[in-house]
Amino acid sequence: MQDRLEVVKAMVAEALADAVARMPRGELADAMGYATVGGKRIRAFLVMESARLNGIDDQAALPVAAAVEALHAYSLVHDDLPAMDDDDLRRGMPTVHLQWSEATAILAGDALQALAFELLTDEVIGDSGARVSLIAAFAQAVGASGMVRGQALDIQAETAIEAADEKTIIRIQEAKTGALIEFAATAGAIIAGADPEPLRDYARNLGLAFQIADDILDVTGDEAATGKRVGKDDAAGKATFVSLLGLDGARAKADKLIGRAEAALAPYGDAAGNLRELARFVIERDT
Ligand code: IPE
Ligand code: IPE
Ligand code: MG
Ligand code: MG
Ligand code: MG
Repeated sequence: MQDRLEVVKAMVAEALADAVARMPRGELADAMGYATVGGKRIRAFLVMESARLNGIDDQAALPVAAAVEALHAYSLVHDDLPAMDDDDLRRGMPTVHLQWSEATAILAGDALQALAFELLTDEVIGDSGARVSLIAAFAQAVGASGMVRGQALDIQAETAIEAADEKTIIRIQEAKTGALIEFAATAGAIIAGADPEPLRDYARNLGLAFQIADDILDVTGDEAATGKRVGKDDAAGKATFVSLLGLDGARAKADKLIGRAEAALAPYGDAAGNLRELARFVIERDT
């Protein structure tokens, strides 16, 4: 899996750099480039592996992987803004609003979102029907029913009078983190017109475990390894599985979810080895 992840990272870095290089030069493009460098590229990896499992080659899947990472980068730039999580460090570097300005961070995020949709129109992906299906699923995953909704619920929960219960936390996390991960993991099946259900089942469990691991790292993690500030969720009053279950409870929950994610891959047999390894990596990572 690590070898494949390195290949995916290099391909996606080049695709994103090329896309940003097509933008008019200036601060906006500089900030877009800055925001799209680095990261674990887990979502890109999900796209490329779900494509491979469905007989879609890397060249066809690459714009989709780049689109998912562009959208994710925008979500991080906005997530770090003073009005949201107010963070000063991202991927080991100053956040975009500190490197430039809040206005540039807002606009670079907006432009990265538009770029993501543009990337999904690339003819190399497949016929127009497949691309429309992909764009529709992407819009659902990232907008007011998906990621943006999750971010809204996350911010609302900070000031809620009562502590969030498990159902509420699942609702927040499935939207803010889960929806884009689910899109990434089912993209290959959507392009191929194949049944996305086993990958959806995998992604739902993986997505929740991924956010739990992120929340655990906010408590136990190291700024040098994660490239972001730690200890912020509790201070901000975030509703997380750690706030609900404690560290051990959250770890047990993530472990159970990863077992389910692995089980969901059964229909793909040995071909899904990389996705099985990724599932373990998601909860064992320190970055
Ligand atoms: C961080 O995502 C934001 C969450 C949804 C928890 P990642 O941990 O995937 O961030 P990068 O892309 O590796 O920087
Ligand atoms: C962010 O979750 C989720 C999205 C950006 C959609 P967090 O706020 O926990 O992510 P980090 O910890 O800042 O990376
Ligand atoms: Mg946040
Ligand atoms: Mg944050
Ligand atoms: Mg976090």
